[in-house]
Amino acid sequence: MSALPEQIFSFRPMNKSDVDAIMSLERTLYPFPWTPGNFTDSLNAGYSCWVCEFGSIMVGYAVLMLGAGEAHVLNIAIGQDWQRQGLGRRFMQHLIKVAREYRAEMMFLEVRPSNKAALRLYEDIGFNEMATRRGYYPAHDGREDAILMGLSL
Ligand SMILES: CC(C)(COP(=O)(O)OP(=O)(O)OC[C@H]1O[C@@H](n2cnc3c(N)ncnc32)[C@H](O)[C@@H]1OP(=O)(O)O)[C@@H](O)C(=O)NCCC(=O)NCCS
Repeated sequence: MSALPEQIFSFRPMNKSDVDAIMSLERTLYPFPWTPGNFTDSLNAGYSCWVCEFGSIMVGYAVLMLGAGEAHVLNIAIGQDWQRQGLGRRFMQHLIKVAREYRAEMMFLEVRPSNKAALRLYEDIGFNEMATRRGYYPAHDGREDAILMGLSL
């Protein structure tokens, strides 16, 4: 599908009143979704939490932890109906900008080896595989490894 024009979507900081709408996306996007508490804890902890909007419709969200010269993407998602239109890439570029403004030198994230869409996106942006975290994620048949990826900022 073709990319959306730049001006019709926007990124803004997440707030607690967004959590219900986020959860209705989160539950459709992950086999093991975050809980509402994971989002409110992230907000309470002062993490850099964002939503992506198309007009007034929430189409995606992301949680970025900043600290000690590093940025760690804890969650990034685009609603199913809005995927493959360039929003995930633009959201990652937004997070990279935020991390650079914070003067982070490295950005990290974990991804399931089975999550081919996310892996492609991160590789395209320039993330490199750095390590495997054994049994990091829950899975329907036990546990799944995580690939730790890093990007030098
Ligand atoms: C991963 C995710 C955020 C990508 O968002 P998106 O808006 O669809 O991504 P984009 O349209 O910006 O795609 C950027 C690139 O990612 C890759 N990509 C995205 N979706 C893909 C898919 N289904 N299959 C293969 N590659 C894919 C492609 O390289 C794509 O570039 P291209 O369109 O020029 O080929 C989205 O699939 C998602 O929210 N998934 C569910 C939640 C999730 O898994 N989050 C990541 C956790 S680590």
